[in-house]
Amino acid sequence: MGALSFGVSEIFRRSVSGWFKLLNQDEGEYYNIPVPDPDLQVPDAALTPSVPPAPVTVTTPVPTVTPPALSLTPTALHTGKGQVRLHDFNFLMILGKGSFGKVLLAEERGSERLFAVKVLKKDVLFQDEDTESAMVERRVLGLVGRPHFLTSLYCAFQTEDRLYYVMEYVNGGDLMFHIQIVGKFKEPHAAFYAAEIAVGLFFLHNKGIIYRDLKLDNVLLDSEGHIKIADFGMCREGMMEGDTTRTFCGTPDYIAPEIVAYQPYGKAVDWWSYGVLLYEMLAGQPPFDGIDEEELFQSIMEQSVSYPKCLSREAVLLTKNPAKRLGGGEDAERELREHPFFRWIDWDRLERLETQPPFKPRSGGRKGENFDNFFTSAPSALTPSDPDVLAAISQEEFQDFTYINPEFPPSPLTAV
Ligand SMILES: Nc1ncnc2c1ncn2[C@@H]1O[C@H](COP(=O)(O)OP(=O)(O)O)[C@@H](O)[C@H]1O
Ligand SMILES: [Mg+2]
Repeated sequence: MGALSFGVSEIFRRSVSGWFKLLNQDEGEYYNIPVPDPDLQVPDAALTPSVPPAPVTVTTPVPTVTPPALSLTPTALHTGKGQVRLHDFNFLMILGKGSFGKVLLAEERGSERLFAVKVLKKDVLFQDEDTESAMVERRVLGLVGRPHFLTSLYCAFQTEDRLYYVMEYVNGGDLMFHIQIVGKFKEPHAAFYAAEIAVGLFFLHNKGIIYRDLKLDNVLLDSEGHIKIADFGMCREGMMEGDTTRTFCGTPDYIAPEIVAYQPYGKAVDWWSYGVLLYEMLAGQPPFDGIDEEELFQSIMEQSVSYPKCLSREAVLLTKNPAKRLGGGEDAERELREHPFFRWIDWDRLERLETQPPFKPRSGGRKGENFDNFFTSAPSALTPSDPDVLAAISQEEFQDFTYINPEFPPSPLTAV
């Protein structure tokens, strides 16, 4: 007949009774939709005793809502020593590598706390004339008031030859890793991830930032299965409503048609990549293809996407014209939240981390269990740089890189 379900953490929070909508098999595997009883349309505080307020003594495995800063136990990293340096960490393995740098799993000496440390080589940034992108990444990672769905930065420090971003270790692995295991996600599962990603993008867009690099490998899962967007190296700051830019950048599979066409573009490019990512989650393959970049770009510009028949019409978000694209209008946030694809998402609960994630990654720790063996088995040593290369680096460019996140507990720390 149909189905509905409750996450364990949802029923631990409070007992549940009442009428619920009967959903189809797939939806019912993930959601429950309460049907309000017209006789009980009274203010929240006077709700029926069968829905008591959340108990005060919650000892259940509900998702951690505490910002990472507050859950930190005092360690050398942010208390006593006054400085963060390379010597404070043992690097255990590589978690991942992208076009710019590598991210290492690191243990803080003395406390054994784990961090993910992104390392960029200054000489490579110089060669590619990309020093500014490293600074943008540091600034965006350091923005205060970030939602849970954006990876946090603890601090940033530098040596003569490298930049280090000390981030929370998001131990559930990235979506690329997970999709390679399961092939694709069911619609309600993908809708949950897409909704949490959207909240992350809303925050960035409201701060005038276009993300420009949304893709499976930049989206991680935390230990509970909530989304954490990582990698802010391609962000563009200072983009208020209606502003446009022209820089050709992104990852080919995800680049919006207006970028391919060298048109001025705005934040709607993120909603294009979002549509590509959603398609990949649902179909298990990219929407556009080509034997080389040229053919791929031609396909992005000209081909209409064929959606597997099993997908609902609402999952089709790939509109080539940015002005007509979901999220492309002035009221993007409302349009997204009200889109029928998200009909079962309770956005307030989602933002409070009260919706149980559809999948909990196996527990991951110092063995990097949820990361690709291709990276984790590679040597993680940082090789010394050539003295001639070092001499050519102009250190002033990185003057403002060093940083301690003020959201962390009172700290006498001054990074070097
Ligand atoms: N905070 C983190 N915790 C765990 N893994 C991470 C973290 N940040 C990045 N990674 C992993 O490292 C990979 C590369 O990091 P990323 O910042 O995307 O580098 P790049 O700019 O080179 O693409 C990611 O795809 C992800 O698998
Ligand atoms: Mg990346």
